[in-house]
Amino acid sequence: MGCAIIGCGKSLPALAVANDDLTQLVDTSDEWITTRTGIKSRRIAVGETNVDMAEGAARQAMGLVEGGYCEAPIDPESIDLVVYSTCTPDVLVPSCAALVRRRLGLVNAVAFDVNAACSGFIYAMSVAESMMASSALGVAGAGRRNKVRRALVIGSERLTRITNWEDRTTCVLFGDGGGAAVVEWDESRAGVLATYMKNDDDDTNALTCPSAFDSPQPFDVNGVSKEAAVAGDPGNARIDEELGVTEAVAAGRPRQSLFMHGQTIFKFAASAMGNAIDEVCKRADVDIDDVKLIVPHQANERIIKYAAKRCGLSLDRFQVSIGERGNASSACVPMALSDAYESGRIQKGDKVILVAFGGGLTSGAVLYEV
Ligand code: ACO
Repeated sequence: MGCAIIGCGKSLPALAVANDDLTQLVDTSDEWITTRTGIKSRRIAVGETNVDMAEGAARQAMGLVEGGYCEAPIDPESIDLVVYSTCTPDVLVPSCAALVRRRLGLVNAVAFDVNAACSGFIYAMSVAESMMASSALGVAGAGRRNKVRRALVIGSERLTRITNWEDRTTCVLFGDGGGAAVVEWDESRAGVLATYMKNDDDDTNALTCPSAFDSPQPFDVNGVSKEAAVAGDPGNARIDEELGVTEAVAAGRPRQSLFMHGQTIFKFAASAMGNAIDEVCKRADVDIDDVKLIVPHQANERIIKYAAKRCGLSLDRFQVSIGERGNASSACVPMALSDAYESGRIQKGDKVILVAFGGGLTSGAVLYEV
């Protein structure tokens, strides 16, 4: 018995922007981007919201529209839980999960967002699986908790809203998109065999995006002060200092934009993905040779190649979907998973690993049997 994936879908914005198009914005080239990252073009949401993409992906995963993979159409009222991973929500309140709940008529679902940067979908899956297992397996006091039998797990991002389009070291990497999976507790299937989550401190502030809370505050320690609003919020100044971005922000870099020290993240990613794959296999007591497909976070094709080498696996054991999409953070894994189902790479009985790394620093993996 276990938590089985019974549906999966994706939704991409309409606008495709090729590497050559970006040469109008920054000093770069198709050759540099392709050889360093494997990215040829990306989709950019102009008009589509984060929740629009999540909704499109969820409709596929639930079998309400064509596309994606769905074992049998899902009655919206049968969904008990929505866990929505994003670090780029359209709004702060309500949660994106609450908006999807309303749009899809998931009247019996509890719904909330999680943010673990690019590892978010792995964390969201882990949360959903834990909630299901604790209510289904009668873990001590299960009757005192919400009963979760079926859940919608989403990874959706509008990363290009926090991209600094003047920074060539980051802006060529990112894209937008949404992915979703429906999972259900099934007495007759193994489903998720193990999950693994790990955090490391980002000691050098290699991946940051300062606060979105930037509205002027007309207060200082003595009370109302119009001057304080002009000077800026001292809390923001302290967090900028903590994240090591004070000078960059003072020099005019947009506060709500992503900063990354590429090589530091590259090194972390290459070892973190390999470790997560090893750990989740160990927890599930599964030999990596018995795993059919690995669906990794799509940040850079070179990182995927490095992880493959580190695990002694050939690249064709990995789903690589980065070429036409770029890095859409926590949407990458569910979108690539949907690709794998649609192309027939995943069949009943296969063992599959989902694996990711991201800001925080976070990393994690899920191993499941189809
Ligand atoms: N076009 C042309 N030249 C560029 C560009 C560009 N877009 N960007 C950087 N360069 C230049 C640099 O300025 C540097 O020039 P210099 O040698 O004259 O100083 C040169 O190219 C090499 O730069 P590096 O940073 O050494 O290039 P690298 O091979 O490390 O590739 C990259 C950079 C692609 C960013 C890589 O480090 C990487 O993929 N890092 C990990 C990114 C990642 O995985 N992020 C995931 C997290 S993001 C998230 O969570 C949302």
